[in-house]
Formats: sequence, structure tokens, C-alpha cells
Amino acid sequence: MADIDERLNQWLRDAHAMEQQAEQMLEAQARRIENYPELKERIERHITETRSQKEKLETRLAARNTSASGMKDIAGQFSAMMQGVGGALADDEVAKGILASYTFEHMEIGSYRMLVAAAEAAGDTETARVCEEICREEEAMASWLEDHMSEITRAYLMREEVSPEAAKR
Ligand SMILES: [Fe+2]
Repeated sequence: MADIDERLNQWLRDAHAMEQQAEQMLEAQARRIENYPELKERIERHITETRSQKEKLETRLAARNTSASGMKDIAGQFSAMMQGVGGALADDEVAKGILASYTFEHMEIGSYRMLVAAAEAAGDTETARVCEEICREEEAMASWLEDHMSEITRAYLMREEVSPEAAKR
């Protein structure tokens, strides 16, 4: 039977694995984008945020006398790689990439909201504060995507008529 502290530790490890996966997925996307400079720039900014989120989680795990679990992280990396390959094979790659990022950001937002509640239940106010802070960055990324996805989709559709190869990324 897991108590609140153990459950919180497990969710922090899950979040760390999730960020590991986010980092790889975003890196694969940013590397391939050529003709959507604004999107590429925003993704690169979120890669920097994601790396610091990973570090913040490691600090909280260490403060709670536990650490990120290697196995889970490896599983996360593998599925990020598979997603990267899948996205690269799609001929509407940039559109699928935005969809994947938008979905992923919302999974992150949900995870951090649950983590804040768990940290509060465990009486760990510093972990609650850090998860709240990370959550704000995920929300900002999700709302950037929301604000730009229609415009990028339109640009993609217009370009596809002229040059599908240039449009796709
Ligand atoms: Fe994140």
C-alpha cells in the first residue's frame, strides 16, 4: 500500500520521464522544421524550458531523498523516438507535429495540476510551488500553439499546393 509521500515520489518520477520524452520529441521537431521559423523558435524556447523543468524535478526528487527512475526514462525515450519517426514519415509532418505538441502539453498540464494537489496533500509546499511554476510554462506553450495553429495550418495548406516538400516542414 502506497502512502501519499510514495505516490508523490512516483508521480514526480513519471513527470521526469515525461519531460525526458518531451525534450526528445521537441528536439526532433525543431531539427526538421525549415520553413516555419516562428514555430521553430517557439519550440526551441520550450526545449530550454523543458531542460530546466527536468532539473527542477531532479532537485525536488533529491530533496525528497529519491531519484528519477532509469527504466521508466528509457521507456519514455523509446516512445519519443518512435513518435519522431512516425511524424517524419507523415507527408503533413508540420501539422502532425503541432497536433502532437498540443496534445502533449495538455497531458503535462494535467500531470502538474495533479502533482500540485499531491504535494499539497503531502505537506510539501516547495514541491507544490515548483510544480505550479512548471505548469505555467506548459500553459504558455499550449496557448501559443492554440493561438498559432490555425495560421500555421493555413500556411501549410497554401504551400502544399505549390510545393508539398517545402510545405511539409
Ligand atoms: Fe514540460
